[in-house]
Amino acid sequence: MPLFDVYPLYNVTPVSGKGVHVYDDKGIEYLDLYGGHAVISIGHAHPNYVKAIKNQVETLGFYSNAIQNPLQKQLADKLEDLSGCKDYELFLCNSGAEANENALKLASFKTGKKRVIAFEKGFHGRTSAAVAATDNKNIIAPINAQQAVTILPLNDIEAVKTELEKGDVCAVIVEFIQGVGGLDQGTKTFFEEVDKLCKANNTMFIADEVQSGYARSGKFFAYQHYNVTPDVISIAKGMGNGFPIGGILIHPSIESKYGMLGTTFGGNHLACAAGLAVLNTIEDENLIDNVNKIGAYFVEKAKEIPQIKKVKGRGLMLGLEFDFEVGDLRKDLIYNYHMFTGGAANKKLLRILPPLNVKKAHIDQFFEALKKAL
Ligand SMILES: Cc1ncc(COP(=O)(O)O)c(C=O)c1O
Repeated sequence: MPLFDVYPLYNVTPVSGKGVHVYDDKGIEYLDLYGGHAVISIGHAHPNYVKAIKNQVETLGFYSNAIQNPLQKQLADKLEDLSGCKDYELFLCNSGAEANENALKLASFKTGKKRVIAFEKGFHGRTSAAVAATDNKNIIAPINAQQAVTILPLNDIEAVKTELEKGDVCAVIVEFIQGVGGLDQGTKTFFEEVDKLCKANNTMFIADEVQSGYARSGKFFAYQHYNVTPDVISIAKGMGNGFPIGGILIHPSIESKYGMLGTTFGGNHLACAAGLAVLNTIEDENLIDNVNKIGAYFVEKAKEIPQIKKVKGRGLMLGLEFDFEVGDLRKDLIYNYHMFTGGAANKKLLRILPPLNVKKAHIDQFFEALKKAL
């Protein structure tokens, strides 16, 4: 049976990985500065991670959400501890889109309203409400287009105010650092004003931390660079280091009710074991410090390259902007220098999303290769 052909593929076949490297079927080593779309947080095949998953699958891989699963509570407690999100409650699911879908659904349940405000160049996933809140007409099918969504320019606070004061908006959803769009960020004043406007208008403020969360921005969550209190925080990607897991942190002002949300696979034993291993490793290896140290080093090194017009992002969620489209450069880096980097909706931007334990030597290696490739 042929595969449904929706992904344009690079001609490379990774068969194993270790730390910040993957190895292809010919034994060639690649430096992974992309982490498979920002997913690899603690590194490929991290020993703690392998051990945790192996032990768990040998014991109990799965049972449904109809029984006690103490691993979920352990994961929630560790997440509260590391994120500093005291009092929030956790609902577990399986992916980023699903996290945002549940976040939007909760906002609508809570407020009784249904219109969503999202922002230009935002990406929130491919399920019904999440894709409708995504600024890309090519991936919105007619069935998704029936959702009530208004997409506004980032930083246009007057437009947000006008829309929220109409009284029908259940949620404002925002990426504090845009991922797929190309690393744009709103201003501090904008985010803090949006937070206030949400509170004043009975609108839920949703922080989409699917990509920017889990230490990637240099704080546990990117919203923590600002003085805001999201009502719902969605997480996925780095949460499982490749094991499919997602979730939402829910402010206690939103009350739970049996049956309000649900999933078969979400929060299963194996996913929780993977998620716990990730959190323990972020803590034990001081990965937030490493993100800040290596992120700053990367930005300094980038200044040495005149072809780079702008460095965007924070921590290890970075983008290098050129005055030409980077598609060929990415291919050159993969095929001739054996390095994975990422692209974005902004075609002139090279995205850098390495595992959070990347070292200075890897950054040096990247810039040497980049200089030669340019
Ligand atoms: C900010 C953001 N939200 C949501 C998603 C969707 O996540 P998933 O692909 O796991 O459904 C992504 C994926 O790239 C993302 O970057």
